[in-house]
Amino acid sequence: MDEHTLDAVAELVHSARRVAVFTGAGVSAESGIETFRQPQTGLWAQFDPMELAHVDALRRDPETVTRWYHWRFSKCADATPNPGHEAITRLQRVKREAGGDVQVITQNIDGLHHQAGAEDVIELHGSILRWRCQKTGTMRSIGDVDFSSFPPMSEAGGLLRPDIVLFGEMLPNDALEAAERAVMSCDVFLTVGTSAVVYPAAGYIELAISRGVPTVEINPDVTPMSGAVTHTLRGASGVVMPALLKQCGLLD
Ligand code: OAD
Repeated sequence: MDEHTLDAVAELVHSARRVAVFTGAGVSAESGIETFRQPQTGLWAQFDPMELAHVDALRRDPETVTRWYHWRFSKCADATPNPGHEAITRLQRVKREAGGDVQVITQNIDGLHHQAGAEDVIELHGSILRWRCQKTGTMRSIGDVDFSSFPPMSEAGGLLRPDIVLFGEMLPNDALEAAERAVMSCDVFLTVGTSAVVYPAAGYIELAISRGVPTVEINPDVTPMSGAVTHTLRGASGVVMPALLKQCGLLD
């Protein structure tokens, strides 16, 4: 991580009233949750998303799809927030206490930002912790879902599916609108741990860039957005985010 860039970004974050933090799977990598597109270890290197994460797959084979998401949930249930999530929460608390704001917009379905204490998290792809009856639309928390057989069914006789966005489905409108408001009103935009290739979510990075506000990418690897953002901090979010807060004087 380049110290000069860290200084410059710390100055921007320190003086910003409103910060938008856009996160992806990389922010949860240090909590032991696989990302999607890493060669070999990424979920999409091991599994075919069209067989497991597409709305047509759910229609065709609900047993396999719900089993897979139940397995994914078990990985999330074992995970705890890492210093990256914690630093984002701390930044939100401090900015809110000072009359500003940090809006967390995530593509992750693992609930780890919530678990770390972040508030009003905008979950663009839903949450694996909520499951929804396809027949009635009723939501229930995963602890109230009976997984003794697959696919799980509700008392109303409907298929219970995770309340997440599958490929081929629309993102929830309220989340899209909240995310757009956050991006349109921020003074600084941080993109943390996302490969920035899945739309419409990745479009928020472009929206921030087009507004001309400073944009910062935090990622150990290069992404298609690396050349377009104002600053890049190369490294793991669990290292870079706490270092950034320290540099802002917000962490000991
Ligand atoms: P990806 O797997 O595409 O990208 C993860 C990014 O995190 C990569 O750029 C990695 O270099 C980076 N990374 C890895 N370890 C990191 C760390 N410790 N700290 C910071 N960054 C790290 O995941 P997403 O961009 O989140 O959608 O993928 C977006 C969407 O594609 C997901 O929500 C999911 C997937 O298909 C659906 O399932 C609908």
